[in-house]
Amino acid sequence: MSWKEILSTDVTSVDRQHQLLIETAHDFFVRIHDGLSRGEMVVGLDQLITLVSEHFDHEERVMRNIALPDLATHAHLHRSLLEEIREFREEVAMGTNQRSAADIEHFLNVWLYRHIVEEDVKISLHLNRP
Ligand SMILES: [Fe+2]
Ligand SMILES: [Fe+2]
Repeated sequence: MSWKEILSTDVTSVDRQHQLLIETAHDFFVRIHDGLSRGEMVVGLDQLITLVSEHFDHEERVMRNIALPDLATHAHLHRSLLEEIREFREEVAMGTNQRSAADIEHFLNVWLYRHIVEEDVKISLHLNRP
């Protein structure tokens, strides 16, 4: 999947970060399908985790600045998403990951997109409210 107008939050800095996250995840999928060692996979996941964590901090600052309703719920979802990917990273690091490359791609795609589509777009709805 790629970044599309429909994913826009109407905040340029947030949209740019979403695009970068999606591109980074896509590059990572290509590398996973080519075959990565466990160590390389952990490095890739760490890069994604750093990027996502910086992004969540930025997005939460933006949401505070525009007084987005339910900000606490949104921030809580961010913490859960980080926990989910950190758990997966631990599985990979410990060698207990059972997922195939396709399963990992599916898991990370759902993990990344669902939140943008279901939650982050509320930023745009809030900015464009009548
Ligand atoms: Fe978010
Ligand atoms: Fe986001």
